[in-house]
Amino acid sequence: MKRLFIKTYGCQMNVYDSARMADLLAPLGYTNADAPEGADMVILNTCHIREKATEKLYSDLGRLRGLKRAKAARGERMLIAVAGCVAQAEGAEIIARESSVDVVVGPQSYHRLPEMIARVARGAGAALETDFAALDKFDALPEEAALQGVSAFLTVQEGCDKFCTFCVVPYTRGAEFSRPVADIEREARRLVDAGAREITLLGQNVNAYRGAGPGGEAWGLARLIRRLARIDGLWRLRYTTSHPRDMSDDLIAAHADEPKLMPYLHLPVQSGSDRILEAMNRGHTADDYRRLVERVRAANPALALSSDFIVGFPGETDADFAGTLNLARDVGYAQAFSFKYSPRPGTPGAAMAKHVPDAVKRERLTRLQAVLGESQARFNRSCVATTMPVLFDRPGTKRDQAVGRSPYLQPVHVEGALEMIGEIHDVRIAEVHSNSLKGEFASTREKVFAN
Ligand code: 5AD
Ligand code: SF4
Repeated sequence: MKRLFIKTYGCQMNVYDSARMADLLAPLGYTNADAPEGADMVILNTCHIREKATEKLYSDLGRLRGLKRAKAARGERMLIAVAGCVAQAEGAEIIARESSVDVVVGPQSYHRLPEMIARVARGAGAALETDFAALDKFDALPEEAALQGVSAFLTVQEGCDKFCTFCVVPYTRGAEFSRPVADIEREARRLVDAGAREITLLGQNVNAYRGAGPGGEAWGLARLIRRLARIDGLWRLRYTTSHPRDMSDDLIAAHADEPKLMPYLHLPVQSGSDRILEAMNRGHTADDYRRLVERVRAANPALALSSDFIVGFPGETDADFAGTLNLARDVGYAQAFSFKYSPRPGTPGAAMAKHVPDAVKRERLTRLQAVLGESQARFNRSCVATTMPVLFDRPGTKRDQAVGRSPYLQPVHVEGALEMIGEIHDVRIAEVHSNSLKGEFASTREKVFAN
């Protein structure tokens, strides 16, 4: 038995990839370890989306070098692999800078890990693969997937053709690619057989999904969702991340009439200024986005939204930023993520004029986060005294407590729920805590969904 430690940075797509790398290495005798100390193989699954990605990687590698040496002193070996988007972006540079690295593998080539490990074991030197062939990867991954738990991720789409000028994804993850419907359905059924009750469909640009249907014709995301919703034992579906330009009518309609599709939509807007949206190459205005939000909410009045924002994009003035604050206030997000603009090497934004000083970015971020935090708190308060279906997915810290997720992804702590993990129960929301809700059972304790 060999021990495998994977550290995952960044987005949910990386979480999915890490799980698949573990699946891939299981037949080679690797089982998951909780810490790098003493592991036979360590994989750093990296993210390149924002600053300090490479610095973080090299400092982690420095620490691993020590562990690797300690192991070598005992006559044992530790393999070190760098995967993910920094591996894709930096490639051979990583091996040149840190000689303890054995394997560098990009997000579209990690299915080659077993042969790369074999090559390293033969003493053939460090192995590097950064090809783009997403289809090859999914075809090569093992059918058997390890249990991801009650709530599972399933990548249906990868890459991005939008080329927002701030974003590194089109370069690290490559062109848009959608998996065929039948493959996705098979994987979803396996996840459900292994205990998943909720599946989040993942893609960098998931609502641009256009995968081959059973007859070879292209299916959109709405059709895929309706197909997966037919799977017995699967109770909840989500998808992330979406681009405003790809919110099709049928996807909006699915929010109205597909009960398994959760009423929660992550729809990044990035900025509320038309000038900045244009410079970002987003392909929509602030008002286009507002109208879209109105349409989605008209389809399902219970729907809540989350978003991503960037402050301090090159050229952003006080007036542009005021537009962002206004949009954030107008929409009223249930949750939102906000970031200081970080110039990514090789992206058009990095080469633009009028970069915003860091102090200004910092000040804008604080102001935006105050607005978003207030909006989130208001949303959470509005949940108090309402009853929500909660899917319990893990034990809590207190005795007999379990934690689940509301339809809006809020963690809900409930006492006396420990035996309900894997089930959905109606819960009355009693209190709002800083990052979670406290719930109690509604007077009737009937299962909404249960095995
Ligand atoms: N700088 C800051 N934030 C960025 N994001 C993507 N690229 C950058 C960048 N260069 C943010 C966007 C995106 C989220 C995943 O990360 O808001 O939606
Ligand atoms: Fe990071 Fe984006 Fe790559 Fe995910 S896809 S790991 S967020 S750079």
